[in-house]
Amino acid sequence: MENTLRVFLENIAILLFCLVMVALMVIIIMKKQASNVKITRTRFGEGDNLVNFIHISDLHIPMHQVSFKKICGIIHDERPHFVVITGDLCLKGHLGKLETFLYMLSNSARCPIYITLGNHDNILFNDEPLAKSAYINALENISPYIRVLENDYCIYETYERKFVIAGLCDHRDDKSYEVPGEGKDKEEYIGEFLDLWNKKAKKENATLIVASHNPDVMIYINERKADLFLFGHTHGGQIWLPFRLEFKLLRGDKLPHQGYVYGRYEYNGNNMYITSGVGCTLLPLRFRSRPEICVHSI
Ligand SMILES: [Fe+2]
Repeated sequence: MENTLRVFLENIAILLFCLVMVALMVIIIMKKQASNVKITRTRFGEGDNLVNFIHISDLHIPMHQVSFKKICGIIHDERPHFVVITGDLCLKGHLGKLETFLYMLSNSARCPIYITLGNHDNILFNDEPLAKSAYINALENISPYIRVLENDYCIYETYERKFVIAGLCDHRDDKSYEVPGEGKDKEEYIGEFLDLWNKKAKKENATLIVASHNPDVMIYINERKADLFLFGHTHGGQIWLPFRLEFKLLRGDKLPHQGYVYGRYEYNGNNMYITSGVGCTLLPLRFRSRPEICVHSI
């Protein structure tokens, strides 16, 4: 009897050991994937006067597993015309690290860097709404290359081409349209910016690129158009689970439930790209969704 119990306990111990080893191996693999950045190249349009630019997102400093040096080195080597960052830059208490990154990026990219903020950036201003303009000023003071585009646009010109590059605030955090008595709804509010930027692009004979954090904003854009929409936010799922459970359990966003999770899509006749981002949220791990730096040609 005593012998049988001993054998049983030994088997349990072996099983537990195996489970711990498997769990450790899975964590090591996911940790490795979180730092294994890829470069994704996507071409929007034809011709020999296309312009290359970088699109990155969701750094979540200090949860990034790809070093600043690596990111800046890749961007330097690509020699982009400009860089677009679609939000979720850093967590509370890590502005200093973000400033270091943007300083390094400005020095290595040596081109305009357009930033729009994400939901994790806006969390920083929950208690202090006025801190947002100070935060934007702090980022723009790092380098003359940096512009934060929150419901705003810039014009970028090359010898042959003109671009209107616009940034829409993260639609879940921008409540400025909810002015009592004005009767504006979200679609009308966002639509007014799109109309304005389209008018500007038409006047300048320019290509219109609209950047925002959360792809769900496409629901409010409706029939309005831009040449390209850029998003982040989904992390491509970050840790893949069968049946898209990572979205069903952890995220209330609508577009991922319609299958718009990662990569290039056409939505209501508009080209859009959802990047899987560079960093991580909650856990410093990724599975079947590598961090990426996008090189778009348009
Ligand atoms: Fe994010």
